[in-house]
Amino acid sequence: MTSNTSQQDAAVTDKGLLVGSAYADDRHLAARQSIYQWQQPRYDLPGIVTTELAQVHGTVLDIGCGNGKLITRLHRDRPDLRVVGTDISAGILHDVPRPVAVADAQALPFAVVDCGVNLERVTCPHCGGSLDTDWWSDLLEEHAESGFTTLVTEVPCCGTATSLDALDYDWPCGFARFEIAVWNPERRWFSAEDLTALGDVLGHPVRQIRAHI
Ligand SMILES: C[S@@+](CC[C@H](N)C(=O)[O-])C[C@H]1O[C@@H](n2cnc3c(N)ncnc32)[C@H](O)[C@@H]1O
Ligand SMILES: [Zn+2]
Repeated sequence: MTSNTSQQDAAVTDKGLLVGSAYADDRHLAARQSIYQWQQPRYDLPGIVTTELAQVHGTVLDIGCGNGKLITRLHRDRPDLRVVGTDISAGILHDVPRPVAVADAQALPFAVVDCGVNLERVTCPHCGGSLDTDWWSDLLEEHAESGFTTLVTEVPCCGTATSLDALDYDWPCGFARFEIAVWNPERRWFSAEDLTALGDVLGHPVRQIRAHI
């Protein structure tokens, strides 16, 4: 579901403050960025981003791009990339190289992370019935391009209103705003301990999807 819980909202800075004062324009951010010239030892942060993107081609989305320092540098270092800037505050995007969009990172659509031919069945946790595989594949096809703005659904088996994320997928599938892909892993499943350690590093719990395409 896209709407944030009150707990999530309480854990992040009030969006009215972000948009109305802290990042209404780039004055405060630019003042903080200017301090970097006295940094010891000195790190070239935009240069680090360029290095990290060495193997990346196509479109790059900068979420929370602020006054576009990283975007400006990427335009110079990697003119082959199409860089799109997004920020929750329209004011701070004023001088950022286009294209830009005003967007709340917490309201990005969910992409389905599908296990491909590994999927044997989808079961309803409410009535225990098996969901029609055509229902599932139609759903995926319909949302392939734009993702899901909401996971709220009514299951065809018993008509219960539920979340797509709450159905039982065998093998596991998921819905996510970000995904870390390991191609041809040549290893077994990550253990529960591995996943906990990964989640701790990321600051967000992770779910493992083993896909075969
Ligand atoms: C510390 S600034 C960093 C700017 C830029 N990434 C940089 O490194 O120079 C954080 C930016 O994130 C934006 N931001 C905060 N919460 C956001 C949200 N939920 N969605 C999109 N942008 C957000 C703020 O408006 C601000 O411009
Ligand atoms: Zn059901």
